Amino acid sequence: MKLLILDTPDEVTSWSAKYVVKRINEFKPGPGRYFVLGLPTGGTPLGMYRKLIELHKKGKVSFQYVATFNMDEYVDLPRDHCQSYHYFMFENFFKYIDINPKNVHILDGNAADLKLECSNYEEKIKEMGGIHLFIGGIGADGHIAFNEPGSSLVSRTRVKTLTDDTLEANARFFDNDITKVPREALTVGVGTVMDAREVMILITGPHKAFALYKAIEEGVNHMWTASAFQLHPNTLLVCDEDATMELRVKTVKYFKGLNHHKLIENDSNVSIRS
Ligand code: GLP
Repeated sequence: MKLLILDTPDEVTSWSAKYVVKRINEFKPGPGRYFVLGLPTGGTPLGMYRKLIELHKKGKVSFQYVATFNMDEYVDLPRDHCQSYHYFMFENFFKYIDINPKNVHILDGNAADLKLECSNYEEKIKEMGGIHLFIGGIGADGHIAFNEPGSSLVSRTRVKTLTDDTLEANARFFDNDITKVPREALTVGVGTVMDAREVMILITGPHKAFALYKAIEEGVNHMWTASAFQLHPNTLLVCDEDATMELRVKTVKYFKGLNHHKLIENDSNVSIRS
């Protein structure tokens, strides 16, 4: 596992955008050779999407041969609702880049058969050859995508009932009215994310500090589903100083000494203002 500790949330989003660009360009995508990205929603990755748009506009990256799979979507929320993850992704990212909408995959929470929708999603990921880089955020309770505490660590894409903690956390997007937050969602499983060749998780803010501690300093535990990545061979966690507040000084010192920020060095092609 790699842990990169940066000073501010803005540095986390800038750095992660540069890393995504580096990964895509190194892969040299082209006709019949798609770079496959797993993508999250939420407040944490928003800045990364903005930086990626900026880099795309500067000609540093093209998404023409990039395919995407989003992590999750609410059940029974109209696709054009301003809080649907379809709406979020198109409004905050896809409409500003050169991705072909046919290469964008987002679970349909209004499908007539939700089980079939989930198994088809898994099939589509397989057809694309798997995910190269799965990017995620985490909930304050350590959940990844909508894999709430207690989710199986080998779970696949399925319907999940959201916990009261998640409903409360997401009420901010629904007029602070918890009753308006959909109670169910479709989500990729922990196992689905674990299958990706590489996982990058963005964690910012003091409210995520306990989850980061549980994810990396304690054992693998289905009550903190992000801890599953301790068993993934290629996980990179990118966090800000505030998110490290529950970690041991020893842990912080060790990872700071490893200089993981250098992972994007020697790539003048992706230089960007932070
Ligand atoms: C939701 C999403 C997660 C996201 C989490 C944290 O539960 N399903 O994918 O990581 O919220 O969101 P935020 O980044 O806004 O804190």
